[in-house]
Amino acid sequence: MDLFNKLEGRPGPLGEFTSNGYGYYTFPKLEGPIGPEMRFNGKNVVVWSVNDYLGIASNPEIRKVDVEAAEKYGFSAPMGARLMTGNSDEHEALERELAEFEHKPDALLLNYGYQGIMSIIHALVDRNDYLVYDSLSHACIVDGKQLAMAEKFVYQHNDMESLEKQLERVYRNKKENSGVLVVTEGVFGMTGDLGKLNEIIALKEKYPFRLLVDDAHGFGTLGEDGSGAGTQLGCHDGIDIYFGTFAKALALIGAFVATEPRVVEFMRANVRSQIFAKSLPLPIVVSARERLRLVKENPQWRDKLRENALNLRKGLRELGYHVLPSESPVTPVMTKGSTDLCTKIMRTMREEHGIFVSGVAYPVVPKGIVLLRLIPTAAHTDEHIRRTLDGFEAIRDMVFSEAEKNQERLSLSEAIDR
Ligand SMILES: Cc1ncc(COP(=O)(O)O)c(C=O)c1O
Repeated sequence: MDLFNKLEGRPGPLGEFTSNGYGYYTFPKLEGPIGPEMRFNGKNVVVWSVNDYLGIASNPEIRKVDVEAAEKYGFSAPMGARLMTGNSDEHEALERELAEFEHKPDALLLNYGYQGIMSIIHALVDRNDYLVYDSLSHACIVDGKQLAMAEKFVYQHNDMESLEKQLERVYRNKKENSGVLVVTEGVFGMTGDLGKLNEIIALKEKYPFRLLVDDAHGFGTLGEDGSGAGTQLGCHDGIDIYFGTFAKALALIGAFVATEPRVVEFMRANVRSQIFAKSLPLPIVVSARERLRLVKENPQWRDKLRENALNLRKGLRELGYHVLPSESPVTPVMTKGSTDLCTKIMRTMREEHGIFVSGVAYPVVPKGIVLLRLIPTAAHTDEHIRRTLDGFEAIRDMVFSEAEKNQERLSLSEAIDR
């Protein structure tokens, strides 16, 4: 059979949405400066789907630095991979600043978060090692696991008994020269709950391992100084390799890991997604430095983000919606229903109430569940929250009656821990 013909009958889990809902439910085009109010489909909408947590994407100081850096360097420089011809003083300075921000001795810049962490997992463990990861891990960790040669064990989401059981299994057969890597997220991006970092770290005493934490959503947003979920939970030192991305709190592209110098040195020469790919353009690096500086100097952005998240959740709960017990800015609203309900909510909110929310249904979450994921930012105002809650109030009867009709009986824990 011709390979291309075969693809037509195999749309993949998201294919149905991309072909039927292109431009609306998937690949929508939000226009205008990034912020809580943008244009969609010719209308002004209040946006709850952009991970610009600290509301800095359109900050005038940052925009100025972006323009000046683009003018000075252009987007080509430096050409080549860092290892070959793509290094610069700016790249190295950013690494030092990231390490300092994360209270770790060293850091390594990554071109993209997804490829970066995937490739790091691949590089860290070999066929004699063990990789243990949370069942709700982001696709980049799952793909890193696919690449890794190590023996793999998965534990139920944030279930410490299940993690211990897997570590026992590892230690039953572990050879003298085998290492163990445990991977969790600091903030689980879909559900907003934090990884149980204290409990995971405590298990190191009994089953020595190294811990890699993907804190994509916690970097810049959690902890008093923004250094992430570990700081928030008081156990940052127990994280052996801290991963953060610029794609959320810094509203940019690029990522990093912060860890011991000997590990950074190893990674520089072994993380294939960095060795065989062009390094980040200089304007991006210069802008990342400026954004990090502003994040350090403006802790009130985190306070505002927290306040907005709390007000949004309180209002949604008062309306009777089931908001998952998130400990981060991520605000997940869960209801029972079909894909049809999910698209109906998105369309009605956008068209009738001017509120841009995104939702997911099967196959992203289990059948019978609709998960709306709202992302508050520090730039949202009380008025944005009020308008949004008015919209949710207006669709309440439609949502709740559909949910009642839905015959699926899925518990919350089943939904989260698929
Ligand atoms: C938990 C998590 N890890 C990693 C990534 C990938 O980061 P990037 O967008 O920088 O590739 C994301 C982004 O969606 C994420 O949510």
